[in-house]
Amino acid sequence: MAMKAYRASLLWFAPHSEGPVRALFEEDGLLVVGPNAQGRQVVQAIGDWNAVSAQYPGLPVEHLEGRIIAPGFVDLHVHFPQTNVIGSPASGLLPWLENYTFPEEKRFAAPDYSAQAANFFVAELLRNGVTTALTFATSHVASVDALFTEAQQRQLRLITGLCLMDRHAPDDLLNQGANGLGGTEQSLRDTEALIQRWHGVDRLGYAITPRFAPTSTDAQLRGAGELAAKYSDVWIQSHVAENKDEIAWARELFPQSRSYLATYNDFGLMRQRAVYAHCIHFDDDDRVLMRDTDAAAAISPTSNLFLGSGFFDYAGADRVGFNYGLASDVGGGTSFSPFHTMLAAYYVGREGQTKSGLSLSPQQLWWQHTAGAARALGLEGMVGNLLPGCEADFVVLNPKATPLLERKTSIASNLDELLFSMIVLGDDRLVEKTVISQAI
Ligand code: GUN
Ligand code: ZN
Repeated sequence: MAMKAYRASLLWFAPHSEGPVRALFEEDGLLVVGPNAQGRQVVQAIGDWNAVSAQYPGLPVEHLEGRIIAPGFVDLHVHFPQTNVIGSPASGLLPWLENYTFPEEKRFAAPDYSAQAANFFVAELLRNGVTTALTFATSHVASVDALFTEAQQRQLRLITGLCLMDRHAPDDLLNQGANGLGGTEQSLRDTEALIQRWHGVDRLGYAITPRFAPTSTDAQLRGAGELAAKYSDVWIQSHVAENKDEIAWARELFPQSRSYLATYNDFGLMRQRAVYAHCIHFDDDDRVLMRDTDAAAAISPTSNLFLGSGFFDYAGADRVGFNYGLASDVGGGTSFSPFHTMLAAYYVGREGQTKSGLSLSPQQLWWQHTAGAARALGLEGMVGNLLPGCEADFVVLNPKATPLLERKTSIASNLDELLFSMIVLGDDRLVEKTVISQAI
């Protein structure tokens, strides 16, 4: 596959090993992409147009005048079967699950329904500039196959897995038994078969996916933990400490664990590549457990504001020091747009500011949805950035996409002002094009 270059303004991030988050920006830049040893398009060079173009004489250049190329966004937690659930009002998480989410997820037992929903979902991710996603499916194998199939066709980097739930949900949403097996045992066999079918195929990855502790028996969580030990490079995803009623329920069901979060650790479900959504109502022992196990939090601010769940404690997370990144959590979350998520995260950070003096910078917000989220997934240096060697997933942003964006971005006098203008005013209209790394 040929080398190719793009001339535009460029946004990317200094390596995390170099210290605090630092965005890099080149007003007139050149991004060179070309195949790596495996034949996948990766970044070969990035920097100032004059300097980089001199190293590649004769290379075809696409000039994207007035546009900004930035890393594709990484959505650290999203539910593909909840596209239709966006904007469903409820007094809180548990009634929202019961009245809107579970009834919709039942429909994914039908392969046709799963396939068309997967098609819409992946298109919506791409329209919004999301190029890597850690995604919930439903408790039906058909939903997992449908989403992997769709992502594979689009060459998207996507991680998903069979939703494990063997109690406390409607009967037809519980994992079903087959061939004389109970639902619990069958769900674990299905998980292992799906790992073997999909994990590491093209850009796809598998995530062992207990929905949350209250909808799994001890036996299911134990089995999930055993699979997590056996397949150490698959991901784990679940929910934790989102809502006060949920926490009380989890404590009742697993009283032997020190905390709701500790329940997962007690079943072997906390390690590198384990991503827990929400992580709102934590104490410092929980934060230390996140840090010491190298698990990561998927912060889902639009969901937390919509469902009235609470506010992620950025100051607490940074005081102890565990990994986190941003997530849409559609359909608890209200938007597929990373710009909406970053703006909501800013509001959440402001809430904590009175206590900590902390306020999130636009560079931090953007990092949390790109390179930071990639780091939380253990994919740093592979996605979420445009350093040489990163897979060539990127967005082309048009800062003149709307009259107000044009007016506001044109008066930005530094990088932070420019990024903030896009975070506050941006949505899918800002994303002119999403480019996915291709393979031969
Ligand atoms: N906890 C368990 N299931 C869910 C879900 O689907 N969405 C959210 N936001 N929280 C959950
Ligand atoms: Zn969720």
